[in-house]
Amino acid sequence: LMNKVTVVGSINLDTNLRVKRMVKPGETIHAKEHYSAGGGKGANQAVAASRAGAQTSFIGAVGDDAPGKQMMDLLKNEGIDLTGIDTIADESTGQAFITVDDEGENAITIYAGANFAFGPKEIAQKSALLKDSDFVIAQFETPIAATVKAFEIAHEAGVKTILNPAPGEDHISEELLKVTDMITPNETEAETITGIHVEDEASARKAAAKLHELGVDVAIITIGSKGAFYDYNGVSELVPAFKVKAVDTTAAGDTFIGAMSSILKPDFSNLKEAILFGNKASSLTVQRYGAQPSIPYQKEIEAK
Ligand code: RIB
Ligand code: NA
Repeated sequence: LMNKVTVVGSINLDTNLRVKRMVKPGETIHAKEHYSAGGGKGANQAVAASRAGAQTSFIGAVGDDAPGKQMMDLLKNEGIDLTGIDTIADESTGQAFITVDDEGENAITIYAGANFAFGPKEIAQKSALLKDSDFVIAQFETPIAATVKAFEIAHEAGVKTILNPAPGEDHISEELLKVTDMITPNETEAETITGIHVEDEASARKAAAKLHELGVDVAIITIGSKGAFYDYNGVSELVPAFKVKAVDTTAAGDTFIGAMSSILKPDFSNLKEAILFGNKASSLTVQRYGAQPSIPYQKEIEAK
């Protein structure tokens, strides 16, 4: 039986530049490659879930412009249900400008546009989609008030909620954490939320304890190339990442969450297996360029 995953999130047209090294302030450099691709943390997570085998729906917004049509077409071709996406006049579709250097490091500037132009009212109109899900996933590239509303509707219907607190914010809504079942921060995001500096298993365990106190049952803290630490129901463990040569880490975190949610049981009974599946998927993503073009399909993940 396929999981039903609904992502509330951002849609961006990514403009990608490959450079030898990052540009410094005041400097001009040449890029060696330029291309555009589908992106946005929300859209990437939905693509990852769908390619990994989930029945996927999306809630979000684009502008009434060419990039918006282009991004909608991409998501439609992925078989994602787009009935929850609004087209907003007078707003532009979200865009991201991504530079990747020879070390595989990236720097991203986003212009949110339509991604920030909806709120609780628009979410409430889509409650049927939210209720008819196994998981509802959100990130921080859309308004927090919209996410709170979506998670409240899901929570009330017994649907499990997953918060990917990225990109990091300098404060976190406690209201949101109360209706969050699972959270997936990286080390930096975990520190922002809990005040605990995370660098290894021991410090991750302390941060996870704080996340439980804040009302989140399942904590998954990704610790870079070390892997993903989880803490749930008294069980905790670091699930090691796969050692691969990364050329572009863009969308690695998005792939992890989307792929994991596609096989995760709503009672979290196969959490470790799902994390391993997510780790496999993201290890494929980092070996390829671009956000959505790099996200693997179920067959590739299973073959790893
Ligand atoms: O997580 C990667 C994504 O972040 C990119 O696709 C870009 O659009 C930004 O939102
Ligand atoms: Na990539």
